[in-house]
Amino acid sequence: SAAEKGGYDYFMLKEIAEQPKAVADTLLGRIDPSGSLTLDEVRITPSELREVDKVVIVACGTAFHAGLIAKYAIEHWTRIPCEVELASEFRYRDPILDSRSLVIAISQSGETMDTLMALRHAREQGSKVLAICNTNGSTIPRESDAVLYTHAGPEVAVASTKAFLTQLVACYLVALYLGQVRGTKWGDEIGAVIRDLSKISCEVERVLETMEPVRELARSLADKDTVLFLGRHVGYPVALEGALKLKELAYMHAEGFAAGELKHGPIALIEEDVPVVVVVPSPRGRSVLHDKIVSNIQEIRARGARTIVIAEEGDEAVAPYADHLIRIPATPTLLQPLVATVPLQVFACELATARGNEVDQPRNLAKSVTVE
Ligand code: AGP
Repeated sequence: SAAEKGGYDYFMLKEIAEQPKAVADTLLGRIDPSGSLTLDEVRITPSELREVDKVVIVACGTAFHAGLIAKYAIEHWTRIPCEVELASEFRYRDPILDSRSLVIAISQSGETMDTLMALRHAREQGSKVLAICNTNGSTIPRESDAVLYTHAGPEVAVASTKAFLTQLVACYLVALYLGQVRGTKWGDEIGAVIRDLSKISCEVERVLETMEPVRELARSLADKDTVLFLGRHVGYPVALEGALKLKELAYMHAEGFAAGELKHGPIALIEEDVPVVVVVPSPRGRSVLHDKIVSNIQEIRARGARTIVIAEEGDEAVAPYADHLIRIPATPTLLQPLVATVPLQVFACELATARGNEVDQPRNLAKSVTVE
């Protein structure tokens, strides 16, 4: 009913709007006043966490994209090798696991059969499994050794939005906590990032306030066949997520690429007026990456692409090559997915509406996939 949707036309719109709160709720009570993390609810002891020599993340769909982003954070802040695998592929390749492997299973519903089978396989090999889950008491956390709940509240729309942002928050918390417990050379950076994280829900709110031009742009592309998405570093999984949203909602051909891979094939797809969304990393910090993506934007534009550039406020270098410029607040690179994903959700939702699609119930899809 309209009341359940809180005055929005679709649950998806309501859930997009709830993201600042979902992010804040997922952080609540997990950062103590001294600015360090308290994750006692994760019932794996600090000494067990110090023994971990490999992290393996298993998940499907959007949760898998959260896992891809988590890999960058975990490896950077903890120096523990991290693999991310589609849950549906995991157990069939006889993965190398033992009691020192920490397996993280990410799932909004907690009922995804592929993810459940992957975690059962991991436990059979003696690995500890930590679930990151949004549904209290669901099967995946019940069968795991420990759980860190995301506090997104119920997500009804089939297309995952607020659950994704909270999965990212939970992954950052785990990465930072592992770093904190094990003591890495990034001690100072970890403290600074925890401070940035605690402010991030306001930044998500600011992004939501500036989405009208994105909706307008989406409507103008309603008759296109293809949209491509490019990113580097954590922007690459963001590109994959943007493409997934567009496939499931707008039923359009959409693909995400690592921008550095363009020259190895995908650039052949670029032709006159094909829309290409580019997620640009912060020019601060890893500026080499930024320079590289600016030249990627130039390359595709020279071949006729219509460039839709998502870049942080104050990044003037991209402006001359952007047919459409979507601004996001400046954030540390590893946290950028929390703000960069939001315009892509709005974009897909608006395109679906413009194409007359059912936003909350896309064809052929179910909210939780309980078959393998
Ligand atoms: C996302 O928009 C999808 N509907 C889908 O990819 C989903 O993320 C995937 O099926 C995993 O679901 P889960 O988080 O409930 O395990």
